Amino acid sequence: MCVNKKHFGVALLAPSLVTASSMKSLLSKRDASTYEQNAICTAADHISPVRDQLLRSYSVNDTALFGKDLWWQSGNFISALATFYQLDPDYGSIHNDIFAKTLSEAPGYGNYVNFLNGWYDDEGWWGNAFLDVYDYTQDRAYLNQAITIYSDIVGGLGTPCGGIWWDKAKTYVSAISNGLYTELAAGLANRAGDSSYLENAEENWNWFFSSGIVGSDHIVRDGLQSSNGCSLNGNVFTYNQGVILGAAAELYKATGNRTYLTTAAALADASTASGSAVTSSSGILTEGCDKSSNCDTTAQMFKGAYIRGLRKLQLVDPETDWLNYITANAQSIWNNDLNVENVNGQSECIVGSAWAGPFNSDQATVVTQGAALDALNAALATTR
Ligand SMILES: *[C@@H]1O[C@H](CO)[C@@H](O)[C@H](O)[C@H]1NC(C)=O
Ligand SMILES: *[C@@H]1O[C@H](CO)[C@@H](O)[C@H](O)[C@H]1NC(C)=O
Repeated sequence: MCVNKKHFGVALLAPSLVTASSMKSLLSKRDASTYEQNAICTAADHISPVRDQLLRSYSVNDTALFGKDLWWQSGNFISALATFYQLDPDYGSIHNDIFAKTLSEAPGYGNYVNFLNGWYDDEGWWGNAFLDVYDYTQDRAYLNQAITIYSDIVGGLGTPCGGIWWDKAKTYVSAISNGLYTELAAGLANRAGDSSYLENAEENWNWFFSSGIVGSDHIVRDGLQSSNGCSLNGNVFTYNQGVILGAAAELYKATGNRTYLTTAAALADASTASGSAVTSSSGILTEGCDKSSNCDTTAQMFKGAYIRGLRKLQLVDPETDWLNYITANAQSIWNNDLNVENVNGQSECIVGSAWAGPFNSDQATVVTQGAALDALNAALATTR
């Protein structure tokens, strides 16, 4: 790929010439090459004058994680960065040292040996992240790590409601732990070739769609309350809509069975519809807490996971409506939720939580930076 020069086109401007407004206009052009430039500005760039954003929060105090106390979110950022590096290997080659460091040192946080802790969704984020890193590096160490995590998650099967538990304390059966487990199992079927992965993925997919978690409106609810007769927790979050789309893409790749795509399409159509439970009337992905500007660093991650799943579906089953949705969201972040700050002569691309805008500095964190990278990745991957 021959994209290297584009970075330097930005980088070579003398700092004194780069005002916030010129940087903003430079970065807001709406074409595929600019998604890449925007992604770089969002992720990192150690080349002055664009100051790194996501990566500058990496391993502060030598944690081998991003930010502070962002354990599972750091798995999401690793996913996003590995995906971006695949899309731009030249860029990736500058920064790919973080994967090995994360693999060996991050579990020191909370003594989560092998990336295992008390929550199967946390494990699922990391397991799927290591598949993304494996795809980029082709280094089996990451595939093996994903397999180790998967083997632990399988131990979460056997709830009274079906599927896997959310947590090892067995308090709840969540859509998210099950979506991630299905995606990981199918992802391993595509990469590690043991038939049990595919069997487990298919079985959990079938359970997911018969459990009551997915409504007749094709919107995914949050989970089943195992201590209350497996009654439905009807809360709607963006990530539950998206992760299962990524699972469908992996299952389709593993089987060639288009039924997975048909089922996923109904979900994607429902969630991307303007005015749906997760999309604004103008077509922008919106978490419930975005409307009240009070997303915490958990909810701030969800939209990134959503659009990652939609990207995976779009790449195996392209639909113009979904493509338009992805690009509209990536552009909205840049047009409505970006703050370009000039700090010590360096421009910083800071993005907030509400992709529809307006930018709110109280809602701009390491996590919102990572989620925005997922949106730019999705636009970049599906427009080339
Ligand atoms: C780094 O360590 C300092 C001193 O203990 C602490 O105040 C700060 O919050 C830490 N930052 C991160 C990102 O861990
Ligand atoms: C395709 O998948 C669906 C859903 O799991 C299943 O019902 C169907 O039998 C599968 N078709 C084939 C040809 O295997």
